Amino acid sequence: MSTPTIRITGGYPLTGTITASGAKNSVLKLMAAAILAPGSSHISNVPLISDVTLMAEVLEYLGASVVFGEHEVSIDTSGVQRHDAPYELVSRMRASTAVLGPLLGRFGQARVAMPGGCQIGARKIDQHLLGLEALGVEFETEHGYIEGTAAKGLRGATVVLDIPSVGATENLIMAAATARGTTRIENAAREPEIVDLAGFLTTMGAHIAGAGSPIVEIEGTDRLYPVAGHQTIGDRIEAGTYLAAGALLAGPLTVRGVDPAHLEAALRKLEEAGVEVSTGPCEVTVSRQRPLKPLTLQTQPHPGFPTDLQAQFMVLAALGGGSSLIIENLFENRFMTAFELMRMGADIRIEGHNAFVTGVPALSGAPVQAPDLRGGAALVIAGLAADGYTEVSAIEHIQRGYEGLVEKLQAVGAHIEQA
Ligand code: EPZ
Repeated sequence: MSTPTIRITGGYPLTGTITASGAKNSVLKLMAAAILAPGSSHISNVPLISDVTLMAEVLEYLGASVVFGEHEVSIDTSGVQRHDAPYELVSRMRASTAVLGPLLGRFGQARVAMPGGCQIGARKIDQHLLGLEALGVEFETEHGYIEGTAAKGLRGATVVLDIPSVGATENLIMAAATARGTTRIENAAREPEIVDLAGFLTTMGAHIAGAGSPIVEIEGTDRLYPVAGHQTIGDRIEAGTYLAAGALLAGPLTVRGVDPAHLEAALRKLEEAGVEVSTGPCEVTVSRQRPLKPLTLQTQPHPGFPTDLQAQFMVLAALGGGSSLIIENLFENRFMTAFELMRMGADIRIEGHNAFVTGVPALSGAPVQAPDLRGGAALVIAGLAADGYTEVSAIEHIQRGYEGLVEKLQAVGAHIEQA
């Protein structure tokens, strides 16, 4: 039985409106955070993607009950009695490590398989452990597992992160929510998903100040309460992916269901590439009358240019007149897509963290393989712009984080199907 692929015939205009789903990189943490409050929490604007299904599997393994509705989920964590996330689950989704903070915050113990690396890099968690140790957790590492215990409970502390790690900031905020005393995180990550998590925890009764800034302060509290309803923010990376496609095909294309402020750096880069950008309260419209211009971008922690849009913007650069430079500062190995784009005729030279892209008049459709989640999405939008027929394989990567990608693109004119 052949594995499914996405098939595209390029060159058709992309016009109309796409609605972004809820943010994958928020909802996974909101689901994990539900562990902190015994009872049933309810989350809406939940994307129908395989990573969400996997996080539900992790929670059910721990003893929670998870019931999905239409783009919503109810999680009852009263029955959680296991404190371990097994390798079988963590190896399929490294975001399972987001249960570390909540398990320690509620039970004072957690045993999580080391996530290991992935296609884009080492993905270490030393910052998570450094911060949690400051809160009184003692860790032992053996047989590929990290076991943390806080025999005397968690106590507030000041933690200065070496890097503004998104996952470490989230695990620390979740653990600190029930620690005795105040925790201060310095050099905290500032992503919108962290602000969304802080909002969810505040609704639970947590006391958090400064989420979204480099300094976050959490006043621990004895008990947290389940959340009756929380709407996940829109997915800025999904939205940015479709905006890049609209820019490529000249649009006009509107993406709604996302806060434009969450995409500031990417929108500025689109304008640098010669794209017209207009925004509404929860939507962005792109259009282009002139040829794409070259761009220089480097990925940075938020509010800098997001690494999760790097591959998608490389497609813009591949068709931009002139020489572009893309610098990937966050991950060691996040240029894999370039090698697939070269098979479509792109002119790219990789030197370490730098990708030197020389624009070509056109890409040509070809069979390509998705190297990872965002690279796979980038290859789909390259196919939309290429001459002829493109077939993208290994699309299970894409299904982790894009709800209804084929249907959403078909609805705005793309000749695309999944077979
Ligand atoms: C989150 O990963 C996102 N995933 C990633 O999105 C995103 O690329 C990343 O943040 C950066 O924005 C989820 O939220 C599920 P980090 P995370 O900790 O938390 C190094 C996607 O496509 N590091 O900020 O793992 C790490 O190796 C995914 O949706 C350490 O060295 O990111 C990486 O090079 C891909 N030690 C860099 O920092 C640590 O303890 C950024 O990692 C932690 C991280």
